[in-house]
Formats: sequence, C-alpha cells, structure tokens
Amino acid sequence: MEKWRSTLLLLCILLTHPLFTLHSKAQPDDFVRQPPRPVVVTTHHGSETDPQQVHISLSGEDHMKVSWITNAAVPSTVEYGKVSGEYTATATGTQTSYHYFSYKSGKIHHVKIGPLEPDTVYYYRCGGFGPEFSFKTPPATFPIEFVVVEHVDSIDYDVFLLPGDLSYANGQQPLWDSFGHLVEPYASRRPWMVTQGNHDIESHQSNNPKDFTAYNARWPMPYQESGSNSNLFYSFNTRVYDNEADSCSPVYITIGDGGNREGLAMTFEEPTPSISVYREPSFGHGRLRILNTTHAHWTWHRNDDSNPFVADQVWLESLSSTKACHSKIPHDEL
Ligand SMILES: *[C@@H]1O[C@H](CO)[C@@H](O)[C@H](O)[C@H]1NC(C)=O
Repeated sequence: MEKWRSTLLLLCILLTHPLFTLHSKAQPDDFVRQPPRPVVVTTHHGSETDPQQVHISLSGEDHMKVSWITNAAVPSTVEYGKVSGEYTATATGTQTSYHYFSYKSGKIHHVKIGPLEPDTVYYYRCGGFGPEFSFKTPPATFPIEFVVVEHVDSIDYDVFLLPGDLSYANGQQPLWDSFGHLVEPYASRRPWMVTQGNHDIESHQSNNPKDFTAYNARWPMPYQESGSNSNLFYSFNTRVYDNEADSCSPVYITIGDGGNREGLAMTFEEPTPSISVYREPSFGHGRLRILNTTHAHWTWHRNDDSNPFVADQVWLESLSSTKACHSKIPHDEL
C-alpha cells in the first residue's frame, strides 16, 4: 500500500515538477473532420433505488471515492470486498443534490472506501441495492499507464485522465445524466480523474446557478487531499512563469477534445511562442506510461489513425536528481 502511494505521488511529481523533454515531431496532419453526430440522450433502466451513473476516482492514499446517483433515497453506503458477493467492509459517505432552474438532480452519493490494496480487483455494491460492480486498483510497481481522452472502448489502462469538457451539456442538465449513464461501464471499473472545461461552467450573468454547479456536485476530485480549497484545482503546478520557459519547471501537455460539435481549432498563435514545443489540430487520446522512478513516455494517438500508431511522442525525465534544478525545487518535493 505504501508503494501505491508512492506511485500516485510520482504521478503528481511527473505532472507538476521538473522534467526534461526529448521531443520527436509528428508528420504534417491529414485530418478530415467528420460531421457531428446527434445528441445522445439515455435513460436509467433500473429501479428508483438502483445506482446509476456509477463512477470511481482516486481519493488520497490507498482510497477510492465511489459516486452514484439514485432517484429514491438510499443510504450513502458502499459494501465491498475482494470476492464477488462477499462484502467484508462497508463505508458511509455523503449525499447531495442540486437545482438548475427547473431541473432537480437525483440524489448524488459520494463514499470514500479503503484502505485498498494495489493492483487488486474489488467488488462493490452501492446503497444496498442493484447490481454488483467491480474495479481494479492501480499497480504498486511500474509501469503504470494513464489514458487521456480515450475513445472509450476498452480498459487497457490503470487510470483514466479526462480533461474537460465532460458532458457538453451546456446547461441542459439531463445531458449530464446521459453522460453518466454512457460512461458508467468504464468509469465504474477504473478511476477517472477529471478536470473542467469551459462548457462545464454553466453559469449565468447573475451567477445563479453558480459556476460549475453540476460538475462540482457530480464529479468531486481529491482537492482537499492535495491541499486545495477548490474542486477545480488539484495537484497541478505551472511550468511557465511570466511567459518564460523554465527547464526546471513542470511540463504541460495541453490536449484539446476527444471530439466536439465545434470542430477543431485550426489556428494557432503566430509566431510559435518559445514556450510551445509542438502544436497539431487533431482529435484523439493520449497515453502516459510511467516506466520507473525517472522515466515516463507520453504518446498521442489520433482518432483517424489506427490505435497503435503514434502520431506524436515525448519522453519525460524527472529532474529531481539533477543538481542544476535543486535550488529551484522546494526541498520536500525532491
Ligand atoms: C527507466 O526507464 C528508462 C527507459 O526505459 C531507462 O532508460 C532507464 O535506465 C530506467 N531507469 C531506471 C532507474 O531503471
């Protein structure tokens, strides 16, 4: 369990702390945009007490947060164990709901469970009703693989990172529920770590409903565990300060969308700022594979290409052992 914590800590370090980047540029892009598909609206098929929109997220050391929604009141409890149907532990959490004009959400439950063992399958049931779910915790040893914006059709990774936008509801609250139904088969099986996009703001001029009302109620992230006072920020730091590149600072990989209705942003700021290494308009997903304590490999896979094809890649090497950066890094973060 100690090792799992180290693994998670390393992710934070890799994403937020000094890194060298050795870069290889992709070939010019030949992406052809497909027309948008119709909006997908899904409904809940279970009973009023059955869990729906089940998803899990990492929640501090050796713990997982289980989130789900019910139409009827049920206890915010999760029963879980390592054998299907045999729940050796129970945890209780909290319940919330929100209004958005005339829309009223279901009862949104969040329960933190653990401590959990690494690389282990757990079976769980939400609120004492409905079907059993299962998930696998991330491994304690390297390599560990993160997927960023997968066209979600497999679970060949340990942790899913989803930079917003999430549901693209743009205020149409039932689309948040549709999104929750659609992702449940994947988000209930591997931890999903999300960040917000501009389409998740959903506020109005009076700021009522408040910014990120649905996002915050439905997708709480471990911000308290990472010393933040807002669900919108956890663990990330900045590589650029005053528009100057600093090789002893974190690397940012800014990726756009897995797909949206607005199309690709085809224009970039010219000339290319020195702090920007590579830019390409394409939809797809990224994979971050952490190989050991010093090396990680990021790859970008366009939707238009076959999955194994690497359109762009970068090796990331921790600078924590590089003396030149020591004076710039707080001692307890080395
Ligand atoms: C980590 O992995 C990289 C890439 O495979 C390798 O070059 C390096 O020697 C490894 N370092 C350690 C400490 O195992």
